[in-house]
Amino acid sequence: MDKKLKKKAKILGEVIVPGDKSLSHRALIFGAISHGESRISQILRGADVMSTKSCLESMGASIIDNGEEMIVRGQGIKGLKRAPSKLDCGNSGTTMRLLMGLLSGLPFDSTLIGDVSLSKRPMKRVSDPLSQMGAHFELTNEKFPPVFIHGTQLKATHYELPLASAQVKSAMLIAGLLAKGKTKLTGKIQSRDHTERLLPHFGVKLHLSENEISIEGGQQLKGNDVLIPGDISSAAFFMVAALLCPGSEVHFKNLSLNPSRMGIVNLLKRIGADISIKITQEVPEPIGELVIKYSKLKSFHIQESEVASLIDEIPVLAVLATVCEGVSRVSGAEDLRAKESDRIEAVAQNLRAMGVKVDTYEDGFSIEGGQELHGAEIETFHDHRIAMAFSVASLIAEGETVIKKSEIVDISFPDFYKTLERIAE
Ligand code: S3P
Repeated sequence: MDKKLKKKAKILGEVIVPGDKSLSHRALIFGAISHGESRISQILRGADVMSTKSCLESMGASIIDNGEEMIVRGQGIKGLKRAPSKLDCGNSGTTMRLLMGLLSGLPFDSTLIGDVSLSKRPMKRVSDPLSQMGAHFELTNEKFPPVFIHGTQLKATHYELPLASAQVKSAMLIAGLLAKGKTKLTGKIQSRDHTERLLPHFGVKLHLSENEISIEGGQQLKGNDVLIPGDISSAAFFMVAALLCPGSEVHFKNLSLNPSRMGIVNLLKRIGADISIKITQEVPEPIGELVIKYSKLKSFHIQESEVASLIDEIPVLAVLATVCEGVSRVSGAEDLRAKESDRIEAVAQNLRAMGVKVDTYEDGFSIEGGQELHGAEIETFHDHRIAMAFSVASLIAEGETVIKKSEIVDISFPDFYKTLERIAE
């Protein structure tokens, strides 16, 4: 469905962002492999999380959605059974990669499939380290989904993460639960830490230090209730919207303020954004309120060390770069090419269509601020974050912007357009 959008003067009001996507996947998976009941409230009901839910249900998990909460009744890891058909992960890389960790250590065979976008995403980053634990995989062309998994008894390993990827780290920790012995992770372990925070909430002991995470196999999970805070990656679209339009002010409540996800807030403050924060809960995840007001901004340079803390926000930050003073640059972010789309090319193609000059590199791009945008036809490439980033760009573009296949926003933010229409004046 095409969405036609027009330039707006400002953004004013409160935004309720949907539940955090990363936490929603993990709460469902950990609930399903626990003993006992877990009640998950404010879970994201976006298509990606529904893919995780339906895969778990195909393996016999009991998950009841009463509209308010999802109630998961687990019978332990061994309670999951071979699915009667292929497990469809839809558009969701998190579903596929976390389930690869789980299914490689369960005593049955499984096949994971995905949509056209997921079918082009690299899976060796997960299958290689899991194979080191004795897992058996068959990937398509040795790289891609469909992924066939021959479940087996895993053995613990020491793996040095070459990529700062929370999906790889989480797949290894889940496999570590099923392995004999102690699995140790070192290397690039500094990525979002929801798995490390949530596993102890389900009774698992982890050893965490700045350079190492280790987990003893054979631990039982115990069901627990989880309240999912709002997703800062979804809030990011409205933070940037407020910074594009003079006179804007946006309030968020019940937002995840997990330090490993605060890259966007740290960057915006660094370049001059007026942001105030109040933390209202610390454990298991910091949650709070955030207010952002329109501000004049300097340019930014995102370097490799910062990328993992704001990886999903880079498309909308590219839109922000067009109003910053000076040249903004992203480097050390080649993994953007392996997301739901090649986000370096998707951002460049769409910004160019709106009249902006962009230089691209293998690992990022640069954009000079102060360029005028005009409306254009936007290709979304099966990528929810490209659709939302360019819907935000339409707020400052002369004329009409048409977002092709805009329904892809349902992946992470089903009410995105309703919210935008409500607060844009
Ligand atoms: C996610 C981790 C990130 C992120 C994705 C969700 C997660 O991916 O881009 O949207 O829930 O673990 P990588 O681990 O591949 O960087």
